[in-house]
Amino acid sequence: MEETNDTLCVGIDLGTSRSSISASNGERHVIDSYVGWPVDMVARKLIQKPILVGREALDSRSMLDLRRPMERGLIKDGSKKDEEAVQEILRHLITQTGLKQKNKTRSKVRAVVGVPAEAFRNSKQRLRSAMEGVADSVMLVSEPFAVAYGLEALLHALIIDIGAGTADFCVMQGRYPTEEDQRTLPNAGDSIDEQLLKLVREHHPEAQTSIHMIREWKEKWSFVGEAKQPVLVSVPVKGKATDLDITAEMRAACESILAPVCETMLDLLTRVEPEYQAKVRNNVILAGGTSLIVGLSQAIENALAELGGGHATVVKDPVFAGSDGGLAIAQDASSSDWEKLSL
Ligand SMILES: Nc1ncnc2c1ncn2[C@@H]1O[C@H](COP(=O)(O)OP(=O)(O)OP(=O)(O)O)[C@@H](O)[C@H]1O
Ligand SMILES: [Mg+2]
Repeated sequence: MEETNDTLCVGIDLGTSRSSISASNGERHVIDSYVGWPVDMVARKLIQKPILVGREALDSRSMLDLRRPMERGLIKDGSKKDEEAVQEILRHLITQTGLKQKNKTRSKVRAVVGVPAEAFRNSKQRLRSAMEGVADSVMLVSEPFAVAYGLEALLHALIIDIGAGTADFCVMQGRYPTEEDQRTLPNAGDSIDEQLLKLVREHHPEAQTSIHMIREWKEKWSFVGEAKQPVLVSVPVKGKATDLDITAEMRAACESILAPVCETMLDLLTRVEPEYQAKVRNNVILAGGTSLIVGLSQAIENALAELGGGHATVVKDPVFAGSDGGLAIAQDASSSDWEKLSL
């Protein structure tokens, strides 16, 4: 749709762990997907704000009812509070673009939001209602499709977006992807964290660890395949700082997503028209924070070798690939696309 002075187009990647926005006025922002409300009057006195969003919320978590409202890429089930938290994240992102929400003559906001490839209808409905009052028109698209669009990888490409909550797959065949072209798996960053926590606790029961420490270690030393260096971390044991070697645990936890990811990739590839299969195999694009695991693209290429070989690359800008793509869709969609796709 054409952009006018009073329309702000935005692409939003609403992620389980991080959410980003790219706007037509050139603004780009990313925040941690956390929202917190002060728990009591002491907390309210200290914080002096009714609500905290992003890193600020995470850092003050002891004083807050802290929510990470997305799970496996969707708004958590059941709680109204989580829906409110998602709305706060969206509002915060849009406000960061410089748009004044309270100004009655504010620009119209046209938003494209990325959701997991297989988001259920019901969850889409909840997301849509969370967007009410935040944007004037909303289009929900699958996350990997937004990435594909932003990279102009629209023909003979397979996008695999591995985030925190989900791994999302989408084969691009020169048209809007159908359900058969897409898959969603729960094997992603969060499942690696859980696995690593479990293994470290099993092998070193005396060490005091938390999921936040585990995630930090993973983001620093994640790898699959042969270790290039030992992974040594410092943890308190009965209060005393102690060095642990968690190389084997790190490898096992990171490799836990390989089998399901490769299996789904191979399954999608064998469904492509036979004459195009080699082209798609040679154009596998990895996006999302978990694609930063050292050795991942090599492991994917090893799996592609089974089908005759292929090429996998990691996107240059995993943080904004989804939101930049969303923005490109928002700017390119004609009125009729907008109506057709935003149903
Ligand atoms: N260097 C790294 N190695 C491994 N994992 C990493 C690295 N850096 C970030 N991650 C992980 O990437 C994930 C965040 O990626 P991303 O921002 O793409 O997810 P998301 O969009 O929030 O999640 P989703 O798309 O599933 O809703 C987290 O699990 C984080 O721990
Ligand atoms: Mg994501």
